[in-house]
Amino acid sequence: MHIRVRARSDPKPSEITPERVYRTRREFMALAASSVALGGLNALALTEDWLDARGFADGPVFKGQDPGEEITPFQYASSYNNFYEFGTDKGDPAQYAGELTVDPWSVEVTGEVAKPGRIAIEDLLAGVDLEERVYRLRCVEAWSMVIPWIGFPVKRLLDRFEPTDSAKYVEFTTLHRPEEMRGQRSFFSSIDWPYVEGLRLDEAYHPLAIFAVGMYGKVLPNQNGAPLRLVVPWKYGFKSIKSIVGIRLMRRQPRTTWNVMAPDEYGFYANVNPNVDHPRWSQKTERRLPSSFFSPNRIDTMMFNGYAEEVAPLYAGMNLRRKY
Ligand code: MTE
Repeated sequence: MHIRVRARSDPKPSEITPERVYRTRREFMALAASSVALGGLNALALTEDWLDARGFADGPVFKGQDPGEEITPFQYASSYNNFYEFGTDKGDPAQYAGELTVDPWSVEVTGEVAKPGRIAIEDLLAGVDLEERVYRLRCVEAWSMVIPWIGFPVKRLLDRFEPTDSAKYVEFTTLHRPEEMRGQRSFFSSIDWPYVEGLRLDEAYHPLAIFAVGMYGKVLPNQNGAPLRLVVPWKYGFKSIKSIVGIRLMRRQPRTTWNVMAPDEYGFYANVNPNVDHPRWSQKTERRLPSSFFSPNRIDTMMFNGYAEEVAPLYAGMNLRRKY
């Protein structure tokens, strides 16, 4: 993973919605209630009918955080992506992720749980209060966005499978389907597929850690990790694994894709930390998108991406220079 800024994948100014689709919670609720907003956006059965049947017609319950910062235009969040399963260029996921079938979709939960099993995405979401969370997303490549996600706490799902006392870590696995994911069948890819990530169980249980199924009032676009992705806002973006099909509760720390590829550069913890530089670049500042050569929009990076108050206790007494 390295900084690659390709002008061709940057949305042109003319493509950017002049007014944010998505400004206030009230507007979002109106969107959520409208069939135009939620019907037929992609193949997942997260339609108005589906939402109505689950008492969602009045919109989601809002409990989320909101940093009160300018929300990144949807066009950027959905066209400047990292999703190596579809290629390494920032524009590749938006161009090719449409080739992915996301319905039907199920997730298998295994390992240190009393009730292992496979669950269809519809059942997984049944009875779950979806919430809006406006979070900063800070990539390890030193760019960032502010994204309004729709999702629910990770703990909500894990609890259904009853983790045992031996469960100390969680491993997440992305779909491996080379027929539909051209990056996985690329001769040049050095990633050992499938993409895997992990958290300590107490991190996964933290109320800020969510599974997202939507963003900007819509079902997740495929390029952003449809139909189910992790969002861990205080960690570098690579921890927020997309298109999850596997969850394994473990006694030991799982192997994670980027840590295996380049252990000196990408740690297991990957907490956003302006005081620990990447070996090849500084992490003190970040480019808040949209940014350009003439208007770089560089801002200071905050410890734990601005969520220190909430998450610092998870790391009390830990040397964050060594456990980067
Ligand atoms: N998940 C999978 N399966 N494959 C990936 O290549 N890239 C990660 C993360 N999740 C990645 C992934 C990285 S490096 C980042 S920064 C974020 O997704 C980007 O999320 P976004 O494209 O929705 O902004």
